[in-house]
Amino acid sequence: MALKLSDKFIKSFVSDDEIKAITPDVNAAVATLRNRTGAGSEMLGWMDLPVNYDKEEYARIKAAAKKIQSSCDLFIVIGIGGSYLGARAVVEFLKSPRYNLMKKDTPDIYFSGCNISGGDLDEILALCEGRDVCINVISKSGTTTEPAVAFRYFRAMLEKKYGVDGARERIFVTTDKARGTLKKFADEAGFETFVVPDDVGGRFSVLTAVGLLPIAVAGIELDELMGGAADARKALSEPDVMKNDAYKYAAIRNILYRKGKAVEIFVGYEPYEQMFCEWWKQLYGESEGKDGKGLYPSSVIFSTDLHSLGQYVQSGMRTMFETVLDVETPDSNAAVPYDPANIDGLNFLADMKMSEVNRMAMNGTLLAHVDGGVPNIVLRLKDRSARSLGYMIYFFELACGVSGYMLGVNPFDQPGVEAYKKNMFALLGKPGYEEMTEQLRARL
Ligand code: PA5
Repeated sequence: MALKLSDKFIKSFVSDDEIKAITPDVNAAVATLRNRTGAGSEMLGWMDLPVNYDKEEYARIKAAAKKIQSSCDLFIVIGIGGSYLGARAVVEFLKSPRYNLMKKDTPDIYFSGCNISGGDLDEILALCEGRDVCINVISKSGTTTEPAVAFRYFRAMLEKKYGVDGARERIFVTTDKARGTLKKFADEAGFETFVVPDDVGGRFSVLTAVGLLPIAVAGIELDELMGGAADARKALSEPDVMKNDAYKYAAIRNILYRKGKAVEIFVGYEPYEQMFCEWWKQLYGESEGKDGKGLYPSSVIFSTDLHSLGQYVQSGMRTMFETVLDVETPDSNAAVPYDPANIDGLNFLADMKMSEVNRMAMNGTLLAHVDGGVPNIVLRLKDRSARSLGYMIYFFELACGVSGYMLGVNPFDQPGVEAYKKNMFALLGKPGYEEMTEQLRARL
């Protein structure tokens, strides 16, 4: 197994008896999920994706990635929420948060359409000057404002640079197989299209074309990522809660939630985990935060954030627990240099690998936070490989489905996301929103 849960640092907060007591709830949630009898059961396509995917499209994704790699040096991925977080998380986790600055034979990748910032659009446009560019616009609904505006922007740039026919060869569209304005437009314009399956929601879509095309463009081995997810699908079909770490994770976080620990902090110890934290936050926040319920998902990267949020975690309000990601196999041999003068007194660390120093920082923090009243779930990931990451992605998706049903919510919808959109459209004067426009403007 590429990922293992250690409950050593929650023992003083959650007893084995409490886990046994909540097991019937876990089993009921698992049955609801696996028998497809719960709310949102039409959105469970992600459960079988690692083995049951469109093989013809998968081959087309690989071919399109090769074409993009050979025809551009700057690739713009346009999407928001589940339509970009997974791809960005995987690229940064496996390559680097500094991917664009690294020596490589794959294009730079910029993510756009995930905000409403004119300055951000200007910056990416400026970066395109003198470079060959391709774009992948991703939107399941095909109507989301942020990516739609960015698509207008960069499509105009491509058409000016390469002409309408040339631009067509550089635009790749990932959207619904039949519905939405983006699909209609792509078909009319003749862009190559990829499908977001009907039964896979945005935040569960990283292993569809949504994530796979940008991930492949970055030169990451798709078969390994999918293989890891398939390993997890198999290993995590174990029905015994005590032997199935995804179920156990769902059980522990629900026990802690019921005890008033309403904030879960995902803790990474490597900068490359930052965007994975963002993906994880969307997965859990959008799946569970509804009907007045749900853990608030937060994240930190230590030791960096020990110097900003560490104080609060150590001794602020005792409403949180931590889920710590420990990547077990170091991916660097960097060590602390020896200094004959030893002016800083650090020679006791001389020649010690940074990974070992980091591990001691993690162990010291685990003990301090537990002593401070913060339960710590530890997830030990074998290594920083595509296979292990695929396993971890599936682990969190499965645990999220189970945990959401344990909470009594529909983990697969996101009705709350619509509220701001309606207000924004009304305030912008979109036709059809006239009545709301007056009411909202009067309140500002
Ligand atoms: O998880 C989700 O469903 C959302 O985050 C969506 O991915 C996000 O709102 C973007 O939607 P769309 O892909 O329809 O543009």
